[in-house]
Amino acid sequence: MDSAVIPGTMSPSFANIRVPAAAALLLSSIFAAQAWSELSDEWLDVVYVPTPHQVVSRMLEIAKAGPDDILYDLGSGDGRIAIASVRDFKVRKAVGIDLDPQRIKESLANRAKTVVGDGVTFLEADIFKTDFSEATVVTLYLLNRLNIRLRPILLGMRPGTRIVTQSFTMNEWESDYSEKVEFEENGTKGTRNVFLYIVPAHIDGNWTLDDGTKSWSLAIRQQFQRFEGTATIGERSVEIRSGRLSGAAIGFTIEIEGRQARYEGKTDGNTIAGPGWTAKRKY
Ligand SMILES: C[S@@+](CC[C@H](N)C(=O)[O-])C[C@H]1O[C@@H](n2cnc3c(N)ncnc32)[C@H](O)[C@@H]1O
Repeated sequence: MDSAVIPGTMSPSFANIRVPAAAALLLSSIFAAQAWSELSDEWLDVVYVPTPHQVVSRMLEIAKAGPDDILYDLGSGDGRIAIASVRDFKVRKAVGIDLDPQRIKESLANRAKTVVGDGVTFLEADIFKTDFSEATVVTLYLLNRLNIRLRPILLGMRPGTRIVTQSFTMNEWESDYSEKVEFEENGTKGTRNVFLYIVPAHIDGNWTLDDGTKSWSLAIRQQFQRFEGTATIGERSVEIRSGRLSGAAIGFTIEIEGRQARYEGKTDGNTIAGPGWTAKRKY
């Protein structure tokens, strides 16, 4: 695990000590996200800085967390996101994963103070070595580089899984929604950027689309939730435009003789079905 300090702001030894909750709160108010992003414990991938409670609530609203969901908070700190998801949003099950035993201790104490029953569990574990594939909502307040390390795993999750990050993005994977959230906590006013990512289905490749009158060959090139490509009938090829996925929901436009034909549908992986048309993946 790498560690670093901000030149001129912290003594190098700071990087090697555990950061107690109170100090973390102070850090949170002193340093903007980008600044503390460079701080790291030697044995942790990122130090503890809690998300303000108002921001936690808004993150869960943005995720549309609810009774059908299983939420995982990766690097769960004092457990506030997992606990709030069950207490306030009635999430079916929430799991917080943190490598720091002190954070797990605080989380268990916080859970005991809140009436959430055993719907919330905490694992002392490394997020990079733990299976969280059952999650329908994943929350992250990590660093950019950690989001990027997690990105292939997140993109492999079930289409429609909602990922909400605080302050840090997924680089070229653009967010489906973002918001600047205001908060006031312990006399400190501030804002946090919150980003929503919806895991897209994987439709890259070749398909045959049948709309009752015509049969098109589609060659689709996908980049995260956007795609483009060509649609071919016989010798004639036209562009696929405005291709967009939201989980398993798909929309794109084919321009035929100056007229735009819009296709909206849903995929299960190997077929796409919409009103009056279906597409099948070619093998
Ligand atoms: C910035 S805090 C976020 C805490 C909480 N999610 C919140 O938003 O309030 C990041 C947390 O990740 C934990 N952490 C760092 N590296 C980790 C790893 N490899 N596996 C699990 N947890 C880790 C730290 O102990 C810390 O509590």
